[in-house]
Amino acid sequence: MRIILFAGKGGVGKTSIAAATGVKTALQGLRTLVISADPAHSLSDAFDLNRTLMDKGRGLPFKISESLWIQELDIQEELQKNWGEVQRYVSALLNTTGIEEVAAEELAILPGMEEISILLHINKYWRAHLYDVIILDCAPTGESIRFVSIPTALEWYMKKVFKLERRIARYMRPIAKRISDVPLPEDSYFDCIEHLFRKLEGIDRLLTNPDITTVRLVTNPEKMVLKETQRAFMFFNLYKLCIDAIIINRILPQGIKDSYFNLWKDSQETYINLAIEYFSPIPIFKVNLSHSEVLGYKNLERLAEEIYGDKNPAEIFYSTSSYNFFKKDGTYILRLNLPFVTKNEVELNKIGDELVIRVGGFKKHIILPRSFALSKPKKAKVEGKTLIINFGGKE
Ligand SMILES: Nc1ncnc2c1ncn2[C@@H]1O[C@H](COP(=O)(O)OP(=O)(O)O)[C@@H](O)[C@H]1O
Ligand SMILES: [Mg+2]
Repeated sequence: MRIILFAGKGGVGKTSIAAATGVKTALQGLRTLVISADPAHSLSDAFDLNRTLMDKGRGLPFKISESLWIQELDIQEELQKNWGEVQRYVSALLNTTGIEEVAAEELAILPGMEEISILLHINKYWRAHLYDVIILDCAPTGESIRFVSIPTALEWYMKKVFKLERRIARYMRPIAKRISDVPLPEDSYFDCIEHLFRKLEGIDRLLTNPDITTVRLVTNPEKMVLKETQRAFMFFNLYKLCIDAIIINRILPQGIKDSYFNLWKDSQETYINLAIEYFSPIPIFKVNLSHSEVLGYKNLERLAEEIYGDKNPAEIFYSTSSYNFFKKDGTYILRLNLPFVTKNEVELNKIGDELVIRVGGFKKHIILPRSFALSKPKKAKVEGKTLIINFGGKE
């Protein structure tokens, strides 16, 4: 099975390109599901479908053609189904006066529920072998970034906080009930979280397995868009997701001779070259601006032809690990593929057997191999597009 994520800034063409990719993989006979993770669903619009028809499906996969389904999750329904107990507890907390702080903390610990719902579905489909290709039309970059960090955050929460919290709650509940109005979570709340966690188990490995999951960053040849693409690139690398293609969309076709567009064409060329420089050796796919919006099955099929030509869109176009541990001349070294950073932007902290990396507002815990866990990061340097952290020899 393959999972392909399409990510990028709002409006760059994620939904159109995700849908087009699905059309093409389905035409190859691969059972394909395109899921929209953007709360502002527009997948059905890309296929020019009747909204009421989709709504009747209540967020279930909707069949488009022989091997193609699309799904726009009904978040309200998902929340009720999966988060009943958790939601009841959180709102009970919020309704008790004077505990805003506690509630805020609690909410901060529980990562995005919408995103978890999508992960639950992907994991479910994966386990059931229902599809050959799952294509995820991500929410605009800011939000999809949170989405990718959830499995790790949840794993961390379950390992470090959950068990302890549950035990404390069990002992404290009888006392707490007598002395204050603030409710402690019932055991059913913990059951609910534990149940969810079991359903999510393995999704982390699925997303970080470059033989299964790859990310395609959709961008436009413009300054601001490209900047956000760089940020997303760094983020996905940090979270160990493999980026196998960059798709530059909305390029003005060569055929346009009107002088009005001269400056546009020049600047687009500049940014295309910059993108090549930034992202090489990752393959870059270029897509022209069509003469009209890309709507309906036929237009999506045409778009897919333009993007992939005779290539198979389910292929893994590029595969490399964004970080690796190794030993060289007696010293332990961690190499991270982190283009666009300078050494000063990176903050390293070692806590127990984990290395905490902070860069550009992102934070990632990396579990260190045993041999590394014994020493501390001694030196770090940036070489080309790589951050090299030296852990010294064994102590
Ligand atoms: N190459 C293209 N040529 C012409 N119109 C495009 C192209 N790519 C996308 N569009 C149109 O631009 C709009 C935004 O695209 P969409 O795929 O919804 O972006 P996103 O999902 O990134 O917000 C849509 O109306 C879509 O039909
Ligand atoms: Mg979209």
